[in-house]
Amino acid sequence: MARTALVTGGSRGIGAAISKALKADGYSVAATYAGNDEAAAKFTEETGIKTYKWNVADYDSSKAGIEQVEADLGPIEIVVANAGITRDAPFHKMTPDQWNAVIDTNLTGVFNTVHPVWPGMRERGFGRIVVISSINGQKGQFAQVNYAATKAGDLGIIKSLAQEGASKGITANAICPGYIATEMVMAVPEKVRESIIGMIPAGRLGEPEEIARCVSFLVSDDASFINGSTISANGGQFFV
Ligand code: CAA
Repeated sequence: MARTALVTGGSRGIGAAISKALKADGYSVAATYAGNDEAAAKFTEETGIKTYKWNVADYDSSKAGIEQVEADLGPIEIVVANAGITRDAPFHKMTPDQWNAVIDTNLTGVFNTVHPVWPGMRERGFGRIVVISSINGQKGQFAQVNYAATKAGDLGIIKSLAQEGASKGITANAICPGYIATEMVMAVPEKVRESIIGMIPAGRLGEPEEIARCVSFLVSDDASFINGSTISANGGQFFV
């Protein structure tokens, strides 16, 4: 039977490319989304991938949603924690609401997504966790104290989960995309975006599919000895 994969924020942007790649790899895929019903319905129509609506920032909703996915598709063996938001502002202008929204979705959302599936993975002796972090969690970013904190936090999460899960056949890894051509990056003011592209040695934004291919590898049996690692996919913009 095909393994079941859950991709949070899986109907748009990088998440949509990941959902499609995992479906093409033969997994049963469930993609979550937070609010955009229209985009999710279109995505399901186009791809045949089932979508589920819940707020990853809310533990009870995540747990209930995950139970529904498992009832529909079987035990979740692969989790791609991809859902994320930005609320950019220079620190002196950043409000507590902007801080909390990003922490709740991007960081607590990873806990809320992985924690409910973790006991089942331990029992079955297999699991793959991939967290989509960011170049900005590695290097920091002007106007992203909140976002960078969550993306750096992702790396602490996977390194700790790797140590806890290894003896149970579970791996936890992260991908740090650089600037990828998604709505999130296109929302950056054009002048700022152009100056960012100027800092990318590849001379271009990345494509969502370039991140999806990294996920395909990390969740495969071929990657069973890769645990607690970070793949940087940023066109040469930053080296750790
Ligand atoms: N580095 C240094 N200085 C910068 C800067 C930067 N990257 N960006 C802006 N500034 C400066 C401005 O030039 C301005 O300077 P002066 O006051 O001397 O003129 C100062 O900062 C403040 O500018 P504003 O008052 O115009 O700031 P604002 O309150 O209007 O906020 C902004 C504007 C939110 C910072 C906007 O410029 C922006 O969105 N910047 C992009 C931030 C960014 O790169 N976000 C990444 C999004 S993509 C993503 O997150 C995906 C991923 O994982 C990679």
